[in-house]
Amino acid sequence: MPIAPIAPAAPERPRRSALYLPASNAKAIAKARTLPCDVVVLDLEDAVAPAMKAEARTAAIAAVEEGGFGHREVAIRANGIDTEWGADDLAAIAGSRADAVLVPKVSCTQDIGRYEEALEKAPSTMQLWAMIETCEAVFNLKEIAAMAPASRLSLWIMGTNDLAKEMRAQLTPCRTPFLPFLSMAVAAARAHGVTILDGVCNEFRDLDVFEAEARQGLMFGFDGKSLIHPAQVEPCNAVFSPGEADLAWARAVIEAFGQPENQGKGAIRVEGKMAELLHLEQAKRLVAVAERIAERG
Ligand code: COA
Ligand code: MG
Repeated sequence: MPIAPIAPAAPERPRRSALYLPASNAKAIAKARTLPCDVVVLDLEDAVAPAMKAEARTAAIAAVEEGGFGHREVAIRANGIDTEWGADDLAAIAGSRADAVLVPKVSCTQDIGRYEEALEKAPSTMQLWAMIETCEAVFNLKEIAAMAPASRLSLWIMGTNDLAKEMRAQLTPCRTPFLPFLSMAVAAARAHGVTILDGVCNEFRDLDVFEAEARQGLMFGFDGKSLIHPAQVEPCNAVFSPGEADLAWARAVIEAFGQPENQGKGAIRVEGKMAELLHLEQAKRLVAVAERIAERG
């Protein structure tokens, strides 16, 4: 049966919350269809034990075939191309209706090239999403991001657990050892139009710790955060949705720049603060993001 094309991701599509779940867990898949997450990541990699890999792959493909995910984008995280499961995972995902394939431990441009090749026969709308989680990747961020415009690559997810493991660093709630990479990764992603999501917070029972970490990610400029538990979805959406005060300011800036007396001006006064044309652009973007979120109901 031919594969129906999937609509390409529109600009500013909300990706506030991306929930991972082991594709071997049927209950979790059923639950994900009911949760308000923007993205579901069916994992074949670290969350699945070696003995369950083949079964998880079959379950993930069946789940996307069955559908029922509504507005949620569905990605399948493959095992690395050099593992014993990688080639079979990529072939199966390439023939599936998944919106994206998420690939682990991308370290250099050659890695992206190999995944592109493996996805040669996939629908043209299937996106390539990459985990940034190796020490080597940290030094190749700019080059990897620069491949996006001419490839399927469109989104990065930070893999802070793997980074901590490789660095032998401690992943504490303040994330001090990782802060330089987080901001460098955001800057590299922005330079080439790549969407970028923050790493997971392992503390899924303590939502105060989670919220503080999500706010730190927002402050760094991430579009959203990757998640491991249903309880994290709503607080994450709340953090990554434009707030009322920011929206009110954005609307005031748009309105002020629309006034006849402000035509042709680059900098004006809005509610006692300076607003420049760059703030007008930011304001328009914020309102557009809020509208996309509101469409989700
Ligand atoms: N997605 C969807 N549903 C999930 C889920 C997830 N990530 N994690 C848990 N659930 C479901 C459970 O199936 C359970 O459903 P039920 O009430 O119908 O039985 C419910 O939510 C409550 O689960 P809970 O008992 O609180 O969690 P747990 O102790 O069973 O599992 C984890 C904890 C961390 C093992 C589990 O949340 C998980 O597997 N997370 C994802 C791990 C992952 O994918 N890692 C890879 C990326 S880092
Ligand atoms: Mg990882």
